[in-house]
Amino acid sequence: VTALFDHFGRTVSTQAFRLAAASATAFLLVAALIVGVLFWQTNTLLTDHVVEELRGEARELAHEAATSSPQAFSERIEVRSRVSGSSLYYLANAASGAKIAGNLAVFPEDVAASSTGGVFSYTRLGDAPELSRLAVGIPVAVGPNLHLVIGRDIEEQITLADRIKRTFLLGFGVLALAAVLAGLAVGRTVLHRVEAINATTRSIMAGDLARRVPVSGNGDELDELSENLNGMLDRIEQLMNGLREVSDNIAHDLKTPLNRLRNAAEAALRESRGAEGYREGLEAAIEKADDLIKTFNALLLIARLEAGVVEESAEMFDLGRLVEDVAELYEPVAEEAGLSLTIDVETGIEVRANRQLIGQAVANLADNAIKYSAKAAEGKRPSDMTVSVTARKSTGLAEITVADRGPGIEPQDRDRALRRFVRLEKSRTQPGTGLGLSLVAAVAHLHHGSVRLEDNEPGLRIVVTLPFATASS
Ligand SMILES: Nc1ncnc2c1ncn2[C@@H]1O[C@H](COP(=O)(O)OP(=O)(O)OP(=O)(O)O)[C@@H](O)[C@H]1O
Ligand SMILES: [Mg+2]
Repeated sequence: VTALFDHFGRTVSTQAFRLAAASATAFLLVAALIVGVLFWQTNTLLTDHVVEELRGEARELAHEAATSSPQAFSERIEVRSRVSGSSLYYLANAASGAKIAGNLAVFPEDVAASSTGGVFSYTRLGDAPELSRLAVGIPVAVGPNLHLVIGRDIEEQITLADRIKRTFLLGFGVLALAAVLAGLAVGRTVLHRVEAINATTRSIMAGDLARRVPVSGNGDELDELSENLNGMLDRIEQLMNGLREVSDNIAHDLKTPLNRLRNAAEAALRESRGAEGYREGLEAAIEKADDLIKTFNALLLIARLEAGVVEESAEMFDLGRLVEDVAELYEPVAEEAGLSLTIDVETGIEVRANRQLIGQAVANLADNAIKYSAKAAEGKRPSDMTVSVTARKSTGLAEITVADRGPGIEPQDRDRALRRFVRLEKSRTQPGTGLGLSLVAAVAHLHHGSVRLEDNEPGLRIVVTLPFATASS
């Protein structure tokens, strides 16, 4: 029983129940107002009808009194009094108080004294005195020697009004009950679903990170809340996976170069004879350490981009101009490798993005294109071995394309190539850490854009799309 009360108490204290109760109260107030006005009007209508009937009768009697003798007039009253089934009552008394004619036993002094009439109680002739009834009566002026009061029974009207009142009250009660029940039902449903959300979050806090909040599927605001919570949980899981991946990468991929550095230092110590030997050994060690630092920095930058954390804010700039500036830096490198670099950019593509990161991404793509197609260029004319860099406006997006005529990447390897530290079998002979494309992907992702790897027949074409106005902040 206490559990039941507890449950009831919690339902009642929900926001949903309170809202339902508040609106039910407002509704009932308005209903009460309407019912009150209706009742009042019905009552007036009934009363008006009775009063009108009495007035008509009074007019007729006043006319008859003026046109006939007192004797004839009292006979007329006697006749009217005997009409069976009529609810009209008459009593004519002489000035002395003696009854002259009529079907009322007691003269209603109050009614006779007031000019507008009033309600009086009477007993029908032949009825027991406790069966008194109510009537409305008015005095009729029929000369100085006669006191005439006519009345009309209103028991029927009272019964009708009572019945109407009872119906209204009953309806009112049913409405109030329905409102409370509806409020309870709404509160319970909401409470039930909130409880489900709470249960899920509790088990997530207890370590079951894969749990998700149930979504009922009817698209209401609780569903929206659940979906947002699930989205948040997905995002957190993604970030945690990213973090785990980075630590895995550090453990595996940076151990090898670190070991190499250590071995080189050891070898230098063991083999070198004289200061010059040590010097060379130290220089080699510094070079390897620099590479390691570079790799570390790239790795950390990618991790930061993937987490969506970048201190550098976005700015508006001309994308075509930036791509051109960066690509031009690679012209001498391309030439040296026997390639021709063509740059074809539209100007006036204003984007809101992180300029430095976009520049780095373009540089990585140009670097790859030159590095991996250089071998294929041997013995061919540079004009056949173009690396083309373009930037253009497409529908709602800015598009950067870097295409080469090198070995390309097999379709099944294209997704993999974007991952950290992935270097494909074919390119093991080239220097590199496998982070270049990961950074491109992370930059695109940060700007809500995308990276596509396509076949350039032959060669590789990489298309980076960016929405015009994406803020990394
Ligand atoms: N233009 C290209 N043509 C053929 N293969 C490519 C091309 N660009 C990238 N790849 C392949 O994708 C792999 C990943 O490229 P990514 O730029 O991420 O690393 P990397 O060039 O090996 O090293 P880094 O850029 O970090 O110095 C490369 O190792 C290479 O196998
Ligand atoms: Mg690269």
